[in-house]
Amino acid sequence: MQDKINQYTADINAFITTQADELEAFRIKYLGTKGLIKDLFEDFKTVSPEEKRVFGKVLNEFKQLAEAKYNELKESLGTETGSTKSEADLTLPGEGFELGSRHPLSLIRNEIIDIFKRLGFVVAEGPEIEDDWHNFSALNFPEEHPARDMQDTFFIKKNSGKDDIALRTHTSSVQVRMMEAGKPPFRAIMPGRVYRNEAISARAHCFFHQVEGLYIDENVSFSDLKQTLYHFVQELYGDGTQVRFRPSYFPFTEPSAEMDISCTICKGAGCNMCKHTGWVEILGCGMVDPNVLENCGIDSKKFTGFAFGMGIERIANLKYVIRDLRLFSENDVRFLNQFQTEIV
Ligand code: PHE
Repeated sequence: MQDKINQYTADINAFITTQADELEAFRIKYLGTKGLIKDLFEDFKTVSPEEKRVFGKVLNEFKQLAEAKYNELKESLGTETGSTKSEADLTLPGEGFELGSRHPLSLIRNEIIDIFKRLGFVVAEGPEIEDDWHNFSALNFPEEHPARDMQDTFFIKKNSGKDDIALRTHTSSVQVRMMEAGKPPFRAIMPGRVYRNEAISARAHCFFHQVEGLYIDENVSFSDLKQTLYHFVQELYGDGTQVRFRPSYFPFTEPSAEMDISCTICKGAGCNMCKHTGWVEILGCGMVDPNVLENCGIDSKKFTGFAFGMGIERIANLKYVIRDLRLFSENDVRFLNQFQTEIV
């Protein structure tokens, strides 16, 4: 028994670890319920009564040694893990701080707003849930116009036409609100989200974003419209960008036109973006129909004006060549990170 104790004592004195699992193995080996010390106490029962006093002392001292060793190692392990918590190593490099980026549509919208602001336009906003009057009727949409059809419009309430409530299909509704609320002259742009009931694909979505514009004053003519939009395009896409106007139809403008610009990708030579025509359409425009002015309480004999509207996803496409519209609303950071800008 003494030999065993001598051997164990030597082992314990030599034992050293920084691993919690090794220390636990040590505890089980010596101090566990089936451990060596337990065995020694079993042996002790067989010791002759004369020897009990001596061995009792030796055995107790050995047990204390094992416990002291265990506690000492446990403490040093504990303070080691504790130290990384309580005394942070100030020389370690800090964790990176990632700055977000502006959404490409916000970048384009802000750029468009900046250009028109320099021309004296203010920004106007309105609700996304609209009534029939502001989205359609005031804008001279005939009762049976296909744009009122369930195909294009998300109706929230659909009754007679007049009381219909819908998600706005364009921000022209904001123009109506503005004209009703104030007195000419008006010079404003209306950025905002609009909704149309279309199947979602690479080329169409059930919502998109517009910037529309309105300019009403005495003696506003179609040449003011052309010059304003021409200037806008030079600012946005660079000097030398060509424009052309094609006759078109909108219920709320007369005459109406669509404006094309020379393809920003191939500069007019022909590519996929412009379907090899050299031109891409970017907006609709026209002189505000006198009916619309009268609907909004404006004297159409005295005042004239122009309006225009564009989808900014399309504008962004021509600037960044984004082939799938869905990317704009998926919030994939691999896409969004490509538009890193300085945020001020
Ligand atoms: N509101 C039209 C649209 O959403 C755009 C437009 C605005 C056209 C103003 C002409 C004048 O398509």
